[in-house]
Amino acid sequence: MKIIEAKHFDDMSLKAAQFMIEKVQRDPTITLGLATGGTPQKMYELLINDHRINGTSYHQVTTFNLDEYIGLDRHDPNSYYTYMHKALFDHIDIRDEQAFLPNGTASNLNAECERYEALIRQHGGIDLQVLGIGANGHIGFNEPGTSFESSTHIVKLTESTREANARYFNDLSEVPTEAITMGIQSIMNAKEILLLASGKKKADALYQLIHGKVDESFPASVLQRHEQVTIIADREALQKVAVSSN
Ligand code: PGA
Repeated sequence: MKIIEAKHFDDMSLKAAQFMIEKVQRDPTITLGLATGGTPQKMYELLINDHRINGTSYHQVTTFNLDEYIGLDRHDPNSYYTYMHKALFDHIDIRDEQAFLPNGTASNLNAECERYEALIRQHGGIDLQVLGIGANGHIGFNEPGTSFESSTHIVKLTESTREANARYFNDLSEVPTEAITMGIQSIMNAKEILLLASGKKKADALYQLIHGKVDESFPASVLQRHEQVTIIADREALQKVAVSSN
């Protein structure tokens, strides 16, 4: 695991954007796994700036998002489809048909999970997966207790996750109770992983991810078994971890 310490959120976002831009420039047909949430938001802004200024192209890039709420229409302001379009896709030259998210309003949700997993395989798998981390150790919406063997599946969101995401909704009662998420195995199948974290509320989670026991009770601990993980996190998030940069 490679750990890169950033000074603060903006510095984390800059380092993460530089990391991503280098990957896309080196392989213009790269398949990216993308995440939503507050953590990657500024990184996406910087990717847009770079696209405008330096012309880094996403025309041949394919993306797969980690997850989507169940029951929200894709044009709902709180769907991850809307998030991704506003935060990134509408502002770069990615082809809409190459930017995939699970469909949280599919009539057969189990079939949708299988379709999504198969689609990732058909595209040769994910080259670089971007991840955030929940304070409870979730990655994607894989909450504590999720099997390490899981592929894309339906999850019931924990109350702590719903409360953490309620800031985007008018009211906690509006936060969906279920989602479709790539599974832990789907994430582990990615050739490379970039995990981002910022702020002291992630400090315990980062400590456990790096030094804790590898156990399904803390989903992110599985990343200790992946051979190509880079963590870019700010000082507050790394305050419990001694960074020796190996
Ligand atoms: P955040 O979410 O980026 O909004 O903190 C991360 C996560 O819950 O995975």
